Amino acid sequence: MEQATHVPTALYQKPAYICQLPDAVFPGLPLEEDAFFQGLQRYVEQELAQQGLKVRLATTQDIPAVEEFTRQIYQGEQATEISPYDLYRFLSFGHGVVLHDLEDRLRGCLFGVRYATPEQPSYTVRLAVDPNWNGRKIGYHLIIRSCLQARQSGALIKSGIIDFDNHTNLYINLNHIGWIARDFDGYITAVGSCFDVCLPLTVGGMTRNAIDLKKVQQFLKEADPKLDYRALPAHDLEGMHHLFRETDFKVVAFLPQGQPYDTPHFLALPSAELNYQALQA
Ligand SMILES: CC(C)(COP(=O)(O)OP(=O)(O)OC[C@H]1O[C@@H](n2cnc3c(N)ncnc32)[C@H](O)[C@@H]1OP(=O)(O)O)[C@@H](O)C(=O)NCCC(=O)NCCS
Repeated sequence: MEQATHVPTALYQKPAYICQLPDAVFPGLPLEEDAFFQGLQRYVEQELAQQGLKVRLATTQDIPAVEEFTRQIYQGEQATEISPYDLYRFLSFGHGVVLHDLEDRLRGCLFGVRYATPEQPSYTVRLAVDPNWNGRKIGYHLIIRSCLQARQSGALIKSGIIDFDNHTNLYINLNHIGWIARDFDGYITAVGSCFDVCLPLTVGGMTRNAIDLKKVQQFLKEADPKLDYRALPAHDLEGMHHLFRETDFKVVAFLPQGQPYDTPHFLALPSAELNYQALQA
């Protein structure tokens, strides 16, 4: 008898009233699955090539350079976690993406480790971009390239943790890529307060979850702050604990200063608005 296969299609979908349209996220890319993912890989390579950068998969030969590079970029406690043995395991049970300039100097990296839990995640680690190259969408393109590799290896979602106060990384992932923070843990000694973030590795997941800040501002004007959303100041650690412990809201966007509040805020929506459902593969 033919075995029934369950193909999970969605983990969540942010509502269209706060999101960009697929055409605005990746102009000109077809939305048919195979064509989309092939086109996306070409798009990422071209975008980086325009800046004189070459992206490729890492090999074990890259380990010493990646170790040195990430040690320079990671601060404090995070830096103590870096080890060649870790990088070796990430490559053995996942993948790495490295980015070099025209002189073959390492300018960025990102690793993803596969786990065999029902959601078949590719767990994201060691994202780093040379500070001299910050703000040129390199982090953004590295994350997409890693998503493509993860999907190709069978992962259904990308997941990971992001520090509560890593605003740049939260902004890129929640707003530009389209992740949500589905949980929050503040009590892991030496790791700190972190969001547990995830992204479905589907066409919809990658094209319909990027935030449109203009739409968000319109939504905030019209919606009911008690029922429809929660906006938390980005420094409100206790408020974030309360949100995840006591309510069924999930964080969907990072609102930079002035858009619309005087200080940066996190935007959270009720789970039901996101159709959030853990995947059962
Ligand atoms: C996080 C990191 C990889 C980002 O790389 P990057 O290539 O500079 O990022 P990008 O250029 O793709 O995106 C930067 C975006 O963040 C925005 N940004 C920067 N700082 C911000 C802040 N404090 N608040 C909100 N947005 C911010 C930029 O304006 C830009 O958005 P825009 O394109 O809409 O203007 C890089 O800063 C880094 O290596 N950090 C140290 C290591 C680290 O934190 N790794 C992650 C560990 S979990």
